[in-house]
Amino acid sequence: MENNKNNAFGMIGLGTMGSNLLQNIADHGYNCAGYDNDAKKVDTLNNLKNDNIQGFADLKEFVNSLKSPKTVMMLVPAGKIVDIVIAELLEVLDKGDIIIDGGNSHFTDTDRRSKDLEEKGFHFIGMGVSGGEEGARRGPSMMPGGDKNAYEIVAPILKKIAAQVKGEPTVAYMGKGSAGHFVKMVHNGIEYAIMQLISETYEFMKTGLQMKDEEIHTVFKNWNEGRLQSYLIEITRDIFAFKKPGENHLFFNDIKDEAKAKGTGKWTSQAAMDLVVPIPMIDIAVSMRDLSKYKELRVNASKLYPNLKDSKSPDDKNENLIHLENAFYFAMVSAYAQGMHLLYQANIEYDYKLNLDTIAKIWRGGCIIRSEFLEDIYAAYQKNPELKHLFLDENIHQSLIKSIPGIRKIVSDAVLNGIAVPAFATSLGYFDNIRSAEMPANLIQAQRDFFGSHTYELKGKEGVFHTEWEESK
Ligand code: 6PG
Repeated sequence: MENNKNNAFGMIGLGTMGSNLLQNIADHGYNCAGYDNDAKKVDTLNNLKNDNIQGFADLKEFVNSLKSPKTVMMLVPAGKIVDIVIAELLEVLDKGDIIIDGGNSHFTDTDRRSKDLEEKGFHFIGMGVSGGEEGARRGPSMMPGGDKNAYEIVAPILKKIAAQVKGEPTVAYMGKGSAGHFVKMVHNGIEYAIMQLISETYEFMKTGLQMKDEEIHTVFKNWNEGRLQSYLIEITRDIFAFKKPGENHLFFNDIKDEAKAKGTGKWTSQAAMDLVVPIPMIDIAVSMRDLSKYKELRVNASKLYPNLKDSKSPDDKNENLIHLENAFYFAMVSAYAQGMHLLYQANIEYDYKLNLDTIAKIWRGGCIIRSEFLEDIYAAYQKNPELKHLFLDENIHQSLIKSIPGIRKIVSDAVLNGIAVPAFATSLGYFDNIRSAEMPANLIQAQRDFFGSHTYELKGKEGVFHTEWEESK
């Protein structure tokens, strides 16, 4: 194969994502190269017969085909493999070359790699890439962080291959070190919460409102034409219409009710707990995926605790669907708000210098959580870049207030009828506590001091105190 050092971009990992991203780059007129240690994947790439793409099964030849400074992006599974590939790359790259990790790496790994590679004289970018296989091919949302000078070098390519919203690309520099992977992790946490909400919505319509799949399809179709327009509602609408050729039933009903997870939702919860930021909707979404795996336990418990009464068909379905739309809006706002709150606090703790408006802006297209509502989030942070919490934005406040009757009705109906809506209920519990000027946490402090002398602080008095509680008995 001709090796003329002409390729502007190199990709390691030629799964569908890697191959699609290369085709996207090639579509924009760049010569690019792909490498995989699986020769079959290299053949598949070369069989595309795209004049702008060269596939290599030899790492050295692949690297030698790149222009300097060489830009190599990895799309390989997060974890040890990333370190192995980096070690191999260091053998063949030159100082000053650029390595991009485009996988879902844990942000602490990205910090470690950033430091290590900087010390060794290489440029490192930890970049979240969202949008799945289709996004990679047609325009993903990308969240690069790390070496800013290196970002400036690759930015022209990234800006071209990103999705475009209102004439602007869905890629921007996030901040130093692990900022890009941290933002992507939170994106995924929000993704988990919204997916959980959609599945509870389905359950409420099926069990509570006793609706058929075809009717549920119509609801998601209608929602996708209104303020709930989003990629996740859109694909749910399509799932509710998908039948395999020759079959007469919706295919998703054949799928086991056990949800898998690669871990980014759990990482979001762990990171939030470390930073003392409440994101209970993401926590509950992770927990409910976990609970779904205990099939046998659930089957046994379902026999022991059956619903005492059959949920009766509601008197006015249309009215209930209006409440449900409001409830979904309310809970969805809460999911985004909790994720953004985590980013706000992480910014302070890790000094990433994130711009929350930029994050909202690049999430408006290409990524899995893109939605109409992100326009409102973007507007809120543009108006006030220091906004502490989305609930405090005036426009969001107005629409949230109007949705409260809906969420209260849906959660209370579900609870009374034994329908599981933990994420909806959590959104309401979080809201009712965040709007509590006084929380009952004084009692917790008293209990801690009672049993463990953990001390407490007093209203209107400086210092920490302890009481011998037993004495007054
Ligand atoms: C994206 C997605 C993607 C993620 C999948 C699967 O933004 O394109 O978030 O990065 O890997 O959604 O995640 P789980 O296996 O954890 O559900």
